[in-house]
Amino acid sequence: MEEKLKNLLLDASQALSSATDLDQLNDIRVRYLGKKGILTGVLRGMGALSAEERPRIGQLANEVREKLEDVLNSRTYKIKNRVKEARLEQEKIDVTLPGTAFMTGSRHPLAVIQEEMEDIFLWMGYAIEVGPEIELDYYNFEALNFPAEHPARDMQDSFFTAPGVLLRTHTSPVQVRTMERTNPALPVRIIAPGRVYRRDDDATHSPMFNQVEGLVIDKRVTFGDLKGTLRVFAEKMFGPETRTRFRPSFFPFTEPSAEMDISCTTCGGKGCRVCSHTGWLEILGCGMIHPRVLEAGGYNPEEVTGFAFGMGVERIAMLKYSLDDMRLLFDNDLRFLAQF
Ligand code: PHE
Repeated sequence: MEEKLKNLLLDASQALSSATDLDQLNDIRVRYLGKKGILTGVLRGMGALSAEERPRIGQLANEVREKLEDVLNSRTYKIKNRVKEARLEQEKIDVTLPGTAFMTGSRHPLAVIQEEMEDIFLWMGYAIEVGPEIELDYYNFEALNFPAEHPARDMQDSFFTAPGVLLRTHTSPVQVRTMERTNPALPVRIIAPGRVYRRDDDATHSPMFNQVEGLVIDKRVTFGDLKGTLRVFAEKMFGPETRTRFRPSFFPFTEPSAEMDISCTTCGGKGCRVCSHTGWLEILGCGMIHPRVLEAGGYNPEEVTGFAFGMGVERIAMLKYSLDDMRLLFDNDLRFLAQF
């Protein structure tokens, strides 16, 4: 019997030590130590033992059970540990690896330039005015003194949405809308930024672009005021070394009319490819408000005078950022936009 118990201890320990998972361990435990297991089977033979032998064998059986339980426990612990470590290994993360870089947005170069333009005029005491992009022929042409047969009124040049209704071709209609709202108050000093539309499409023209209109009305406003204002604007926008010049021009809604050039932003005036070797770049149209336009807005041209100007935001952005294709500003290509 003693022999049987010792063999049982040996066999069971070996079986337990070679078990690789908890199910196997449990099977072995049931086989050797369970109610109907091998140990129980051996102990059933105790009845045949002598009274002296019985306690000794009983004790030996207890020792065998305890030893096996020890082996079982340490084996269980080891297997559980191995499972845990395998899981940790799988879940391991390397916190020293570089993180995922998020794309961060930034402001569009046109928005940046337009705000810069607005800030200069706000600083000079102008207010911001807005008008509709879908405009009446009356405000876009008629009230601005365009003659009936003016080429800009042609369907070829403008986007008409209905008879007498079109996408505004410039921000000048806001001049008359503003005067209708403010007359007879003085002074009037506003800029009107916004989208305009023309049937144009090439590297330097887009069917939609942005303008900033300016309008000043008061008693005794002069062409000198106009020149001084736009000169200060040019110096603030393009740097203090910037020079300006005014060339006579024509617009139906201003008289006299002019176009303003600035010294070339690339060569400073020496002449280069950007300024077609003239040293100058045209940036805006301007002039003294035509008496008929003042009248259309409800102001008396005998009592007040005013000036107006209009310039393209894209053109100024192209000059400031040295772009040779306006379409870059509308493509929304991140390789371009990310540079600002
Ligand atoms: N509206 C003119 C244009 O789009 C610019 C302009 C505005 C000229 C105001 C004179 C006065 O070309």
